[in-house]
Amino acid sequence: MNEKITLRRLDDMHCHFRIGSLLKEVLPFTAQYASRGIAMPNTRPRAILTGNDVIWYRDEIKRAFDEMPNRYPFEPLMTVEIRDNTTPQMIAEAHCAGAVAGKVYPLGVTTNSDEGLRDFENKKISETFRAMQDAGMLLLIHGELDRERILVTKREEVFLPTLFKLAEKFPNLKIVLEHISTKAAAESVQQLGKNVAATITVHHLCLTLNDVVGYGIQPHHGCMPMPKDFDDRDMLIAVATSDDPKFFLGSDTAPHPRERKECAKGACGIYTAPVLPQVLAEVFEKAGRLDRLENFVSRFGADFYSLPLNDGTISLIKSEWIVPEQIGSVVPFRAGAKLQWQLA
Ligand code: NCD
Ligand code: ZN
Repeated sequence: MNEKITLRRLDDMHCHFRIGSLLKEVLPFTAQYASRGIAMPNTRPRAILTGNDVIWYRDEIKRAFDEMPNRYPFEPLMTVEIRDNTTPQMIAEAHCAGAVAGKVYPLGVTTNSDEGLRDFENKKISETFRAMQDAGMLLLIHGELDRERILVTKREEVFLPTLFKLAEKFPNLKIVLEHISTKAAAESVQQLGKNVAATITVHHLCLTLNDVVGYGIQPHHGCMPMPKDFDDRDMLIAVATSDDPKFFLGSDTAPHPRERKECAKGACGIYTAPVLPQVLAEVFEKAGRLDRLENFVSRFGADFYSLPLNDGTISLIKSEWIVPEQIGSVVPFRAGAKLQWQLA
């Protein structure tokens, strides 16, 4: 008999579901094992900025879901993008339309952040953050800053003082530092109060910068924030597999068609949805912490978002398989590699 683990259905607190045909390609993977997914708002050509955008995007996702053959229960958790011109009124409307969180992309740090936030400290944006706090919405932050003479690998650390200021100024605003990639970020989240948590991706638990540029340039490992050093990865594994509820899954599954990755200025983002629980099981098993996986993928995130735990379970069976080289138009994480665990 093959070894088997059973987990409560997951919450993936950071998903790029995209729109149009890509949405239809990628949604079925997440919906296979997760009952909820945070839908990131950095869509194009239409970004999710207002209550009407939230309603439109949720309908798009629901329509794509209804077209799927095998349907498991799945609910997209909606977000709006916070820009310099996002007002408290827009927050109220987005909240009314069902957005549970607002997402900040600082200007220029990642895919589709060309109209990202310039200034975290001005009075107008503080009023917007306060409106989110009052409405009980979460603030999700891409925690990097693009500054002069700052390397891409240092952008996360450069952001951390801003996180401390925000956490102090808005003690009742739940803040999630998304896809942390450094030991310094993990330690900051540990130090800060109960209102601050972090998501961790599976690729940051697997990769270092060597896997992006150390053995030939590997565009399918290119993502923001960039994978970092060995000590950073060790720390991420330590906190993800610990009992600390401040660290939970947000996969940042970020599909881009193959030709947008394999070109002169390749897009950043890794498509992990097709292999997510399978690779996580490998990482947790290697750390001797398979028994902590369920907390990381299905409990701590729900608790921080004040959501009930999901019903239903998924099972993983220890049985080798090879990840396809391409799925639809996208090259998935670990393409062509042999994995140890399969979704039952
Ligand atoms: C994401 C994307 O492709 O939308 N890319 C990435 O490298 N992670 C955006 C993001 O979350 O930064
Ligand atoms: Zn993302």
